Amino acid sequence: MYETLKILHFIGLALGLGTSFAMFTLTLATKDLEGPERAKFMMRASALSKNGSFGLLLLILSGLGIAFYRGFANVMSWGGGAFHAKLTLVVVLCGLVGVMQATMKKARKTGDPKLMARLPLLGRLGMLTSVMIVVLAVVAFK
Ligand code: HEM
Repeated sequence: MYETLKILHFIGLALGLGTSFAMFTLTLATKDLEGPERAKFMMRASALSKNGSFGLLLLILSGLGIAFYRGFANVMSWGGGAFHAKLTLVVVLCGLVGVMQATMKKARKTGDPKLMARLPLLGRLGMLTSVMIVVLAVVAFK
């Protein structure tokens, strides 16, 4: 059971963090495209965000599964301050993903270039937060 939860935690990590890096590379790779063509491409590529959301959901469910399996109090004392900081950043990441999805939905509906221009920045903030969570997780459970 524990090994299955940990495997799911790492699959969630691959899905979630993988999506952030993929969107970052696509943003760089389309820099030379004209505005409307780039917006059309990035809107199509934003289908990748489904992987990101599913990855985050898998991380949260498997992480809570591990914590309850090992005993929440044990994990909190084992992980210490780094684990507290990790969970705080997980909440921040959930907020960022929520704002990104709402912005994407509205941008798709209205085609507003200002909304579309916000997405790369939100994506980078999400990527940075995810990398910091990984660092804190390794520090917490060394
Ligand atoms: C509510 C959310 C989460 C909880 C409760 C949670 C809980 C845990 C626990 C208990 C472990 C230790 C597993 C073990 O060795 O027994 C762990 C490991 C890990 N978690 Fe999470 N996690 C959550 C979300 C995340 C997220 C969002 C990420 C990445 C963005 C992440 C990345 C990692 C990594 C990389 C490890 C492996 C650390 C290592 O073995 O050195 N976790 N997590």
